Amino acid sequence: MSHFLDINKTDAAELRGIIDSARAMKDARGGRPKGSPDDEQPLAGQMVALIFEKPSTRTRVSFDIGVRQMGGQTMVLSGSEMQLGHGETIADTARVLSRYVDLIMIRTFEEQTLLDMAEYASVPVINGLTNRSHPCQIMADVMTYEEHRGPIAGKKVVWSGDGNNVFASFAHAAGQFGFDLTFTGPPTLDPEQVFIDEACAKGARVTIERDPVKAVTGADLVVTDTWVSMHDPQSARERRHNQLRPYQVNEALMAHAKEDALFMHCLPAHRDDEATSAVMDGPHSVIFDEAENRLHAQKAVMRWCLGV
Ligand code: CP
Ligand code: NVA
Repeated sequence: MSHFLDINKTDAAELRGIIDSARAMKDARGGRPKGSPDDEQPLAGQMVALIFEKPSTRTRVSFDIGVRQMGGQTMVLSGSEMQLGHGETIADTARVLSRYVDLIMIRTFEEQTLLDMAEYASVPVINGLTNRSHPCQIMADVMTYEEHRGPIAGKKVVWSGDGNNVFASFAHAAGQFGFDLTFTGPPTLDPEQVFIDEACAKGARVTIERDPVKAVTGADLVVTDTWVSMHDPQSARERRHNQLRPYQVNEALMAHAKEDALFMHCLPAHRDDEATSAVMDGPHSVIFDEAENRLHAQKAVMRWCLGV
């Protein structure tokens, strides 16, 4: 069994295998109804706990459907309704859940919660987002880029906005999948240096460029995310908006990217803040393919974790 905690913690060849497996499972399903089972049922008899300490639409629904398509069952748990939210330790929660379920997916605040869950669980643990990373999202994003444009290796990916948890997983992916990554945003919202260092240590070229036009020039992929994440204090909202407004992805900015550049956003979006509706619904946008590919990518992640 293997945990899926972060893109930089999984071997590059294994990550490539997960993307290939996701592609094969997506192709094999074709356009059959979403509630119908896959031909293969690798999760038959398996129970998966999906724990949410933060809100979710895509992660919750895509994991739930994915398990069912592969023949398993799910239990969706809200952190606040568990003893976890009332003082029981993560370690004890992990040990107890391991007696009931075969796989745990957790969306939480502190990275340490995820790490403790993985340390004390005797079943695989998947990171469904923490304050510091969102690896399942970026597996879906790599799959989506390659589905539209072929290998992502060597491409120029530009992140415009807040250097947040989703950016961090892009930095991890830059190292593992071999693409160049440019961050453009205000210095106050720079990503943690450690994410850039880790990507560079794996051979990625990561650049910080304050001028969004210079950054986006020649981009193969432009990505943004909400200006205020779930873990950010709402009191910071106005200040963040003022700082980030020059980094909005609009048609004028996208015009500097390559003609066939793609636009991604993990969603949920605040339309006409971080990206305009004209871009989100425009010819470069693949945002709903990204959302769909969460399903296929996570099915492959779960199979990899369980070795089935
Ligand atoms: N992108 C993403 O993780 O969406 P949810 O918050 O809806 O799960
Ligand atoms: N950065 C966002 C991503 C949501 C999927 C957040 O953490 O709220």
